[in-house]
Amino acid sequence: MPTIDKKRVPVFLLLLMTLLGRAQSKIDAASIRPKMQWFADAKLGIFIHAGIYSVKGVDESWSFHNGKISYDDYMQQLKGFTLAKYDPAYWAELISESGARYAVITTKHHDGVSMYDTRQNDLSIVKATPAKRDMIRPFYEELRKRNIKTGAYYSLIDWSHPDYPGFLKDSSRYQVKYDYNRWNRFRNFFQSQIQEINSLFKPDLWWFDGDWEHSAEEWESQKVRNIILSVNPNAIINGRLQGYGDYETPEQNFPVSKPQYNWWELCMTTNDNWGFHNDENWKTPYEVISIFVDAVSNGGNLLLDMGPKEDGTIPEPQVQVLKELGKWNRKNGEAIFNTIAGIPKGHFYGATTLSKDSTTLFLFLQGKISGDVTLKGLKNRIEEISVLGNNTRLSHKIVGKISWSPVPGLVYIHVPEGVQDPYVTVLKLKLDKPIQLYSGKGGLSE
Ligand code: GLC
Repeated sequence: MPTIDKKRVPVFLLLLMTLLGRAQSKIDAASIRPKMQWFADAKLGIFIHAGIYSVKGVDESWSFHNGKISYDDYMQQLKGFTLAKYDPAYWAELISESGARYAVITTKHHDGVSMYDTRQNDLSIVKATPAKRDMIRPFYEELRKRNIKTGAYYSLIDWSHPDYPGFLKDSSRYQVKYDYNRWNRFRNFFQSQIQEINSLFKPDLWWFDGDWEHSAEEWESQKVRNIILSVNPNAIINGRLQGYGDYETPEQNFPVSKPQYNWWELCMTTNDNWGFHNDENWKTPYEVISIFVDAVSNGGNLLLDMGPKEDGTIPEPQVQVLKELGKWNRKNGEAIFNTIAGIPKGHFYGATTLSKDSTTLFLFLQGKISGDVTLKGLKNRIEEISVLGNNTRLSHKIVGKISWSPVPGLVYIHVPEGVQDPYVTVLKLKLDKPIQLYSGKGGLSE
């Protein structure tokens, strides 16, 4: 990095540089590209919010922070967390069946309760609940047997720790700037936990959360990154580390326009809560699949959440969604896994993906579409069109192509009745060579 003599740069430029610096990640994309490849190809991960909040079915950590329940009542849940029916092999099998290639589980949420046997304090499900066991190791073992990458969610925020400044929404314990020694004690604590998780479980991916409560300097983000990478150099780190992560994590709603990040992942609940809740607003398989397809078509992954109960069982509607997603993936996975983002929306009004060599274009048809679908501005010759999971070949018609003009004709593809998938149908277009799109103004001028 060249050094800049700030005295010689006009103020407005400095301001611009600061703003740009803020928006941009501090991590050089080229240097992390090789380790990011499995993540880019994986497309689907399963998020697991396991915690004591499942005992009463209250908002994970936020319920006491926001004053919906007192801190004492919240902590009473420690007594009810049993994991009596926890079956990590079943979890891993279900995740594998869904088609997911990685899973991220809470090692500690904002409530400060560790889901493994931490040596840094006594607030863990091993020492403070009837479960008396570590959830993480057996789960990772089962995932690894199935070649599924392991992820550790870790909340930087710890509202239970006596040396953490934040606690309830309207009251904090102290301010960092007035008691740096106290902050340092907390910092040693959380960095030791990260060290511990990193050496005990060697997660393939770190999923930090809560970075918004402090700056990169306060968290010592660069140091945190080094702690992880010095032991596990290939670990991937999500973006919630104040600029020191490898990829971005939009949450809950798919962004309206294509995110300009190199790598990103939409994290989303299956009902309207991260943890187990009395909430029956389950997304249907169709909703989940269409959101998944939208994310992948825009170059991202989906991290779909499940919230197990205190005994370690997974609510049945959630199991069903994962199974249906798996069925769909087994039939249509060719258009999803190991692909790259599709073509700009103006060419096709729906989700698309491309094979890595760009000679195959996949079109996703939501709902039970039949009749003709249109593709605009395709310069290639189409060699063959098929419906995934179905042997039918489809016919197409080129409309409005003048032989001597550079403007390609419109492609109308006829989709007959009876070839539709129950959720999202995928058309596979084999092209004569890597895709070339026309985006000129029409007529003779390019
Ligand atoms: C939010 C919340 C948290 C949840 C997370 C998942 O940042 O603080 O409760 O675990 O999103 O993405």
